[in-house]
Amino acid sequence: MIFEPATIGNIRLNNRIIRSATHEGLADEYGYPTDQLIKKYEMLARNEVGCIITGFAGVMPNGKSNSYRMLMIHDDTFIDPYKKLTGKIHEYGTPVILQIAHCGRQTRSKITGFPTVAPSAIRDRTFNEDLPHELSEPEIFEIIESFANAVVRAKDAGFDGVQLHLAHGYLLAQFLSSYTNRRTDRWGGTTANRFRIIGEIFARAKRMAGDFPVLVKMNAHDGRKGGMNITEAVEIAGMLESAGCSAIEVSCGVFEDSLYTVRGDTLPVEAAFRHNFRYKSYPGFVKSIAKRVVPILTKKIRPYENYNVQFAAMIRNMVSIPVITVGGISTLASVESIITGEKADFISMCRPFIIEPDIVRKFKEGRQAKSKCIACNYCLVAAEERALRCYRGKLKAQGS
Ligand SMILES: Cc1cc2nc3c(=O)[nH]c(=O)nc-3n(C[C@H](O)[C@H](O)[C@H](O)COP(=O)(O)O)c2cc1C
Repeated sequence: MIFEPATIGNIRLNNRIIRSATHEGLADEYGYPTDQLIKKYEMLARNEVGCIITGFAGVMPNGKSNSYRMLMIHDDTFIDPYKKLTGKIHEYGTPVILQIAHCGRQTRSKITGFPTVAPSAIRDRTFNEDLPHELSEPEIFEIIESFANAVVRAKDAGFDGVQLHLAHGYLLAQFLSSYTNRRTDRWGGTTANRFRIIGEIFARAKRMAGDFPVLVKMNAHDGRKGGMNITEAVEIAGMLESAGCSAIEVSCGVFEDSLYTVRGDTLPVEAAFRHNFRYKSYPGFVKSIAKRVVPILTKKIRPYENYNVQFAAMIRNMVSIPVITVGGISTLASVESIITGEKADFISMCRPFIIEPDIVRKFKEGRQAKSKCIACNYCLVAAEERALRCYRGKLKAQGS
């Protein structure tokens, strides 16, 4: 069942194991896809991944990520370069879905060249910028239009679908969560109001791109006081289905606490001190004390494995569209129990594919039953400065 073809809307996947969106840092300086990116995807396609979801692509320049060399899709000049990418991946019979995003307050003006924007003027503790500019209604409509235009461009470029990034504290998640959305107009307050921007994107995209598949990645909960919780996430899933969503990928967390989203037993403190814009300027003695103290003081977020599965199952009970679960899935046994136990229709993985792009083939051929990834999370820390790869044991030697 796992290794048989299955569908999401009109997309035919090779099997039920998806490569979850993973920022690759392999765009050129303007956000166009490069040949190295295509090669990375070819490695996945050649090795029988069910479907590829790209790293997030920005729909507006003021929503560009702080991460190194993000993909963009904010005007029509992107269509042809993406056509080359989709054409190549389709040669392997593998579907490819473009994840589209706006970072909202989770970025830096230094990177985008614009003030950061958000539903409400609340500072993000990670990026520590000035207060973000609270979006006016005309600016919200501009964002809706930018997402819808990106959907049309993705369709024209030959992608099999798009995935709206509603998770991990980016702009659309900022609208959904009461933690970041304190508006008192029709874009804030009730769940329906906080969902409005997403409903409008679906409506506009349907008008402009017809039945082109639009998936989402959303948070089941965001770990913030007063923020998203599973009860509300289930309600939102129902709204998404009514809006015409093709599938829901279930994740959790925000950037302020990204090790909630991307969990592991060890904290990448050493790597963060070398490569994170906030910490690398700390004096040496502070770093060396902190290296010892932080792991003791920091509460580790558990569980480390399969941590969104129970929430995906609750969402799956609410909707009839396919549900994908991501987060700490690293063994064939887990994949089997999730799929045959009908907790989710598909599973997706990120970090296991970074270290082993051929993990699906290994699982399928019975050559390996567990990923080699130890969740050190150096890949995540490095994402700010360099292209994606497994950096386990490598960042320290290279220095900053
Ligand atoms: C280096 C790195 C880059 C990521 N980039 C994205 C991204 O562009 N979009 C997204 O939705 N999630 C992104 N994620 C989160 C993953 O898709 C996934 O939700 C998370 O890593 C948990 O899955 P895993 O345990 O299989 O790694 C990223 C994670 C890592 C480690």
